[in-house]
Amino acid sequence: MAKQVKSKKRVADHGEVFTAEREVKAMCDLVADECLRIDSRFLEPAVGEGVFLAEVLTRKLSVVKEKYKKSAYDYERNAILALTSIYGVDILADNAQVCRDKLFALWNEEYTAACKKEASDEAREAAKYILKTNIICGNALSLMCVDENQQDTDEPIIFAEWTFPFNDARIKRRDFRLDVLLKENTEDQYYAEQFSLFGDDAMGLENWMIDPVTHEKVPKPIREYTLIHYRRLTENG
Ligand SMILES: C[S@@+](CC[C@H](N)C(=O)[O-])C[C@H]1O[C@@H](n2cnc3c(N)ncnc32)[C@H](O)[C@@H]1O
Repeated sequence: MAKQVKSKKRVADHGEVFTAEREVKAMCDLVADECLRIDSRFLEPAVGEGVFLAEVLTRKLSVVKEKYKKSAYDYERNAILALTSIYGVDILADNAQVCRDKLFALWNEEYTAACKKEASDEAREAAKYILKTNIICGNALSLMCVDENQQDTDEPIIFAEWTFPFNDARIKRRDFRLDVLLKENTEDQYYAEQFSLFGDDAMGLENWMIDPVTHEKVPKPIREYTLIHYRRLTENG
């Protein structure tokens, strides 16, 4: 059984107690259908070492294998899509890194098992790049990135939206501020209080736009990237 506590100090300082596998599986069963949708997005805001995201990724990759194992091309693209859909935040940099490493190892092993060959270097680099972008060292209460002492920086947490708009190998990335996304998606009183505590920067007009199709106010991306083959996603991409 995996250790749930690393040290008393970490429990006291950061409430760090990892969830046991049995509870993880039972909780994922509560949203079983979503876990089987390859592109359904999951965010774990205090991700720890990523036990929930690992279970979600395992379930998604089992669907990818079932549907696409006959074609390495289709398997790889959909396995990348599964990876793009999971997001995490942790205030401790070592946890965020363990989480990325664990998810990468899982993705890589599943690839080899499903395709009966190793993933290419480019695909592996793309997978690592996506994980580096999606698993962030930050404060899930203030929604800001943190420094090595877990203190807020003045950088808001930014998440990438990844899509395959033409259903081929080209991937599109758009970056959004997490505080703006949460503002759109929740009426929750808890977040209303957080925003009033930390100022209401997220409501600034520069963070919103009118959707040309629905005419609704939607979050505005702070960056858009050109469409590229997912295998060209690299540290510098
Ligand atoms: C109870 S553990 C849960 C970890 C994981 N979700 C699990 O179930 O195994 C809480 C985690 O939240 C992190 N944490 C504590 N305060 C946080 C904050 N303000 N923002 C983001 N992460 C935080 C800790 O470092 C720790 O990894």
